Amino acid sequence: MSALRPADRIGILGGGQLGRMLALAAARLGLDVVIFDPDPDCPAGRVAAQLVCAPYEDLAAVARFAASVQAVTFEFENVPVASAREAARHAPLRPGAQALETAQDRVTEKTFLNAHGAQTVAFRPVASAQDARDAMVALGAPAILKTRRFGYDGKGQAVVRSADEAAAAFERFQSRPAILEAFAPFRRELSIVAARGADGAVRAYPVSENRHADGILRESFAPARISAFAAAEADRIARAILDALDYVGVIAVELFELEDGSLRVNEIAPRVHNTGHWTMDACAACQFEQHVRAVAGWPLGDPSALRSARMINLIGSEAGDWPRWLAEPGANLHLYGKREAREGRKMGHVTLTGPLSRG
Ligand SMILES: Nc1ncnc2c1ncn2[C@@H]1O[C@H](COP(=O)(O)OP(=O)(O)O)[C@@H](O)[C@H]1O
Ligand SMILES: [Mg+2]
Repeated sequence: MSALRPADRIGILGGGQLGRMLALAAARLGLDVVIFDPDPDCPAGRVAAQLVCAPYEDLAAVARFAASVQAVTFEFENVPVASAREAARHAPLRPGAQALETAQDRVTEKTFLNAHGAQTVAFRPVASAQDARDAMVALGAPAILKTRRFGYDGKGQAVVRSADEAAAAFERFQSRPAILEAFAPFRRELSIVAARGADGAVRAYPVSENRHADGILRESFAPARISAFAAAEADRIARAILDALDYVGVIAVELFELEDGSLRVNEIAPRVHNTGHWTMDACAACQFEQHVRAVAGWPLGDPSALRSARMINLIGSEAGDWPRWLAEPGANLHLYGKREAREGRKMGHVTLTGPLSRG
């Protein structure tokens, strides 16, 4: 597999904040980025060498885009699989379409995880209101009904406590294919961000501890204070997933830590991830650089933490606090350049770092 050279071009499907931070990392390594996004004003397009504006479903546009770069990746997991496969006909696609396909459907994803030694909560596919009732009886209350596809930041999810509630939630989501998941009685939410290079080498970042509210990530703390056993388990799970998908690039694995200290995988994200943003200000090589290195076919960087970190998301109107964060000594402010601070929208983040605690 050929490696890219400085001044080569990486194509990125998706132009949100993840694409923006990837483009900045690529630029520092002497690589140009071409963003593909339907929005002419997308955050990544404004810092990239080039922006291709077309719908993700436009296969001819995807083909031209991929033919103009030396490697293609994505920052958004709802890129249609057909478009990813089209891109892969013209340039190496890293990670591959299989990773995308696996992560796009919650039932496919959990089935894959369980087959590769990564335990999840119990679940049932739901295709009808009657399925929702039956699944509720099988799994017990409480449970979570989620649409199989296109959910993010907790959208398309409902906690349900009875068969009637499960059936009603299914109908409220327009009877779209769904999944019923047992509710994980978690002690904490954790995640591990890891990378696999084109040569198969795997490097994982320290595990982070994540706090969500209303399905949206609010804060991450890293390195998480977890047992050596939990750290080794997270590492084992990430490696198993990366190897099974013959993956190239950065992946994130969201985990539930149960009361007994055991881990369950919640979901995987085949891309750089919000719970890895802290690595920009606290690690030797951050997740964005790491992904660029992998996609370029270059050796992976050092994922070690040099500092401890607390990453705070700026959501919606919280971004209005930016002058206060600028004035805060030691606060690292990152803003995504979004023009409208809609409710629930990720506008930026702040990272506070401190000394690495030992032991
Ligand atoms: N089975 C579950 N048990 C308990 N909490 C859950 C479960 N599934 C999701 N959640 C909560 O909702 C959040 C968002 O769910 P997730 O499946 O990760 O969806 P999204 O794709 O929106 O990130 C999780 O981080 C967790 O806080
Ligand atoms: Mg999630």
